[in-house]
Amino acid sequence: MPVYIGIDIGTSGTKTLAIRDNGQILATATAAYPLSSPRPGWSEQDPEHWWQATVKTVRKLLATKAFRPDEVAGIGLSGQMHGSVFLDRDGNVIRPAILWNDQRTAAECEQIEQVAGGRDALIRLVANPALTGFTAPKILWLRNHEPRNFRRVRKVLLPKDYVRYRLSGTFATEVSDASGTLLLDVANRRWSDELLSKLELDADLLPPVFESEDVTAELSAAAARRLGLPKGVPIVGGGGDQAAGAVGNGIVKRGIISATMGTSGVVFAHSDELQIDPQGRVHTFCHAVRGKWHVMGVVLSAGGSLQWFRNQLGSEEIRKARRLKVDPYVLLTEMAEAVPAGSEGLYFLPYLTGERTPHADPYARAAWIGLSLRHGKGHLVRAVIEGATYAMRDSLEIIRGMNVPVREIRLSGGGARSPFWRQLQADVYGSTVATINAEEGPAFGAALLAAAGTGAYRNVAQACAATITVTSRRKPDPKLRRRYNELYPVYCRLYRALKDEYRTIAELVQKHHR
Ligand code: XUL
Repeated sequence: MPVYIGIDIGTSGTKTLAIRDNGQILATATAAYPLSSPRPGWSEQDPEHWWQATVKTVRKLLATKAFRPDEVAGIGLSGQMHGSVFLDRDGNVIRPAILWNDQRTAAECEQIEQVAGGRDALIRLVANPALTGFTAPKILWLRNHEPRNFRRVRKVLLPKDYVRYRLSGTFATEVSDASGTLLLDVANRRWSDELLSKLELDADLLPPVFESEDVTAELSAAAARRLGLPKGVPIVGGGGDQAAGAVGNGIVKRGIISATMGTSGVVFAHSDELQIDPQGRVHTFCHAVRGKWHVMGVVLSAGGSLQWFRNQLGSEEIRKARRLKVDPYVLLTEMAEAVPAGSEGLYFLPYLTGERTPHADPYARAAWIGLSLRHGKGHLVRAVIEGATYAMRDSLEIIRGMNVPVREIRLSGGGARSPFWRQLQADVYGSTVATINAEEGPAFGAALLAAAGTGAYRNVAQACAATITVTSRRKPDPKLRRRYNELYPVYCRLYRALKDEYRTIAELVQKHHR
């Protein structure tokens, strides 16, 4: 019976799983690796670690003996988007990869906008404005700051596409991940020759671009030996982690949106046509569904804000949780639940690492606003949870404003695990929220793409329909929905009130710490 392997090259580790064509998960495996930050705002990783983790996790899957190696009929790849792997003419990595959450390229983003003829012209070419995390500014940064390295570059690959190269010796990418390079003509699903030539970048630097379910390569004999699989297994395009995660959540038709509350938070909507926010606040990328697109908003520290709270202020709860053998988040959310909606006037802005949607502001910072003597720890936690959820609503409001219908919001990530946070999301979003049977995210989506691309299904939508079902639904509480509708506009105004001061604070910090 055919088995499909999905490999997700994440930021903290690689997650690999094997499924049957009915979606049944046979085995999962993970392997962690470090992230280095050689300077403030920099974020890098050694691509060799991704390859080692791939080998290790595939071997772990096989060690479970849940399936036979000769049953493997397809491999799908997914991974952290936007990262740049620079290869020399022998296919060797020139320097550590610069990741999606790296903030060094503010000047290059300005340079790109200027060369393109302004922000609007850039959006016309590649559907998105230049953001520090995207790939093109990283290539320009290398040219501006490490010219010797730049002269040696023959290929620039995204993280999962580097793993494809190690698996097969083939250079290839696919439309969903390529959209996040800022070099793809997203409307026509091919590299933008116009922007490449304006930036004076050689088109040969980039690999051929496929649709996500297309077979792009085959497992080479050498890689097959390392992994313990037969050679020649087809490798489909796969998807950037958000698009592949959306496939894994069944976000493959109009009206169904996902809200993933992980470290970062993502609101993701399928779209049958190319739809662009003229202000460029949400990303418009190609979807991993053939000929379709998606719009998405990214909140940089969503669940990450609660994680920060747990680590910095939750030591008492961590100790208690250990004693009670429960997750500290269970205790923290219980404390939050005991406080009334709106945290009795306390707000939290979740901009611990700046913000992408809707502000595109690397200088924004987090804050509690409205503290009084009445407030205790439960209020602080509830305000953090509400703040992260308001930040997600920001993305949702932009998507609603683009006339993308929102009939159901599927929740995933840590924020979907707590019944309290699920209901709070329904109340803040003002929409029915649902959970589904599949919880494995991008690796599962990548495996479904492999199943669809190698003929187990007619297409991705059919693969999702056959494997994904809704397991629970919650409606907003009418009273709380009204209350949050009154509280949310204040949250929006708080950023605007602080915006200029954030910039000043950043300048002062730089000055004092130079
Ligand atoms: C998407 C994004 C992140 C990364 C890392 O635009 O930046 O989701 O893909 O997970």
